[in-house]
Amino acid sequence: MYVVKSPLPDDDLKTVSEALQGALVDLVDLSLVAKQIHWNVVGPRFRSIHLQLDEVVDTARLHSDTVAERASTLGVSPDGRAATVAGSSGIAAVPEGWVKDTDAVGTLVAALGAVITRMRERVNSTGDADPVSQDIFIGITADLEKHHWMFQAENG
Ligand SMILES: [Fe+2]
Repeated sequence: MYVVKSPLPDDDLKTVSEALQGALVDLVDLSLVAKQIHWNVVGPRFRSIHLQLDEVVDTARLHSDTVAERASTLGVSPDGRAATVAGSSGIAAVPEGWVKDTDAVGTLVAALGAVITRMRERVNSTGDADPVSQDIFIGITADLEKHHWMFQAENG
């Protein structure tokens, strides 16, 4: 169904829509992984990590909405269904059960690192096709890299 007319030509729209969809699933999955660890973390550093993880959830939820609505704005239907997220996220699956605080930090360093790598690829791929979407990816990358720094600092 064709509802919203895109301001972009087809080639550019394809590039940008793939980048936005990829960012959407990565950010939805990041919010789920961060909540899973938020609930399951155990150990002496429980409280600080438990609270820090909700800051990641807030960032991921905020930006998942930003990229999904950017897709809609460009006339592309965003797909945030659970099966789609599970099938195409760039974040490794998290094991079930309690998570030791040191492992929790490592899981977040890895998850954020994976999403950041893919987000930087989107910054590079969308510059010519749509600088407006590129600007969104740049802002998201900056926020994710700040979280990445803080979790790496936890292991200092
Ligand atoms: Fe909570």
